[in-house]
Amino acid sequence: MKLEFIRMQATDLDPILAIENEIYPYPWTHGNFLDSLKAGHHGWIARCGDTLVGYCLLQYIVDEAHLLNISIAKPYQGKGLGRALLDFAVEASRQHGSTVMLLEVRDSNIIAQTLYHAAGFNRTGERKHYYPAKQGREHAVLMELLL
Ligand SMILES: CC(C)(COP(=O)(O)OP(=O)(O)OC[C@H]1O[C@@H](n2cnc3c(N)ncnc32)[C@H](O)[C@@H]1OP(=O)(O)O)[C@@H](O)C(=O)NCCC(=O)NCCS
Repeated sequence: MKLEFIRMQATDLDPILAIENEIYPYPWTHGNFLDSLKAGHHGWIARCGDTLVGYCLLQYIVDEAHLLNISIAKPYQGKGLGRALLDFAVEASRQHGSTVMLLEVRDSNIIAQTLYHAAGFNRTGERKHYYPAKQGREHAVLMELLL
């Protein structure tokens, strides 16, 4: 499957929202994505042919790249596309001049943590009770990759 990475436009938000609403219990809203793009964050979509299969958003703060969102559409998960998108985001951030990539992930999101570990990220700490959850709140695991 040939994967292309293209800068995210506001016109991509309908298919992005459809994916976001399917894969997250607490999805970003249309307004969240629009605000992020308007704030100058770098959004990328991953496309296979005409199909938008994933996306990510990066916020650059001085020499830090913050991975705000990385998502693969449900039918395309577990096929190596998440790793390909993460590798692309890492390389794009290196080229942007970042020296470190930082992210937060739910304590319960073992698949994403496994992906990040496999890509070389290290756990640096946690932010307690950070995310809303079905019962109470859930800790965020903080991870970083030196670029
Ligand atoms: C997390 C996510 C981006 C990973 O993308 P993906 O395309 O499904 O993952 P890949 O097929 O590229 O797998 C990459 C690695 O993730 C891990 N992984 C993937 N699926 C897994 C599973 N079912 N169980 C355990 N680990 C898994 C493995 O380490 C895998 O590497 P390997 O195949 O060499 O063992 C994707 O599953 C997703 O969008 N999930 C829902 C949204 C989300 O959780 N985003 C991250 C928020 S921080």
